[in-house]
Amino acid sequence: MSARGLFITVEGGEGVGKSTNMAFLEEHLSGSGVDLLVTREPGGTRLGEEVRRLLLQVRDEQMDPLCELLLIFSARAQHLREVIEPALEAGRWVLCDRFTDATYAYQSGGRGVADGAVETLETMVQGTLRPDYTLLLDAPVAMGLERARGRGDMDRFEREELAFFERVRATYLRRARFGSGRIRVVDASVPLVEVQEQLLDICRDLLSCWNVRQPAP
Ligand code: TMP
Repeated sequence: MSARGLFITVEGGEGVGKSTNMAFLEEHLSGSGVDLLVTREPGGTRLGEEVRRLLLQVRDEQMDPLCELLLIFSARAQHLREVIEPALEAGRWVLCDRFTDATYAYQSGGRGVADGAVETLETMVQGTLRPDYTLLLDAPVAMGLERARGRGDMDRFEREELAFFERVRATYLRRARFGSGRIRVVDASVPLVEVQEQLLDICRDLLSCWNVRQPAP
């Protein structure tokens, strides 16, 4: 029987280069022989992608923060049952673009929902499942927003004010600093080649601990 796969998540504010660096990680890990499943939140299933549309769509009514939180966890429940858990159990690695750290950063830090509400839903939906490893791409908010807004049409989150994203960033960094050591901060404000050197270092660590965990043939 194969060992359980590694669950890796990639986090960060707007415009920190998540898509480019996710593609880089995918290429490097798959090229190193890892059986990798790449997915994203909110989304990752047909139902979850519909919820994602609801969440990102610009609306003329205010979405209640608890409504937003529950939509995110409803998509997450489907994603876990349908995609993430079966892949991990089959020994595949899962590389997920955002997960529950984003909920603490955006809904709790950004919107001001109580941490306890996020914790309750985290336990209800995920049980004891947490990412094994999280890469936090970090850059000053103004730098990221300039990149994100340069891409054209802005979604419901990208339209938030600077102070919202400062709270998001501060929450991410606090979680990295005071967490269990699971979250590794990557400086995403430097040129792309230097960001990717940091990612390669992390991949080397992950691959070496994976080789140790593999059962002998
Ligand atoms: P993306 O543009 O990075 O794919 O993410 C979509 C947006 O969803 C992004 O602005 C952050 C937001 N989001 C939350 O607010 N809470 C969450 O838990 C997740 C996963 C995403």
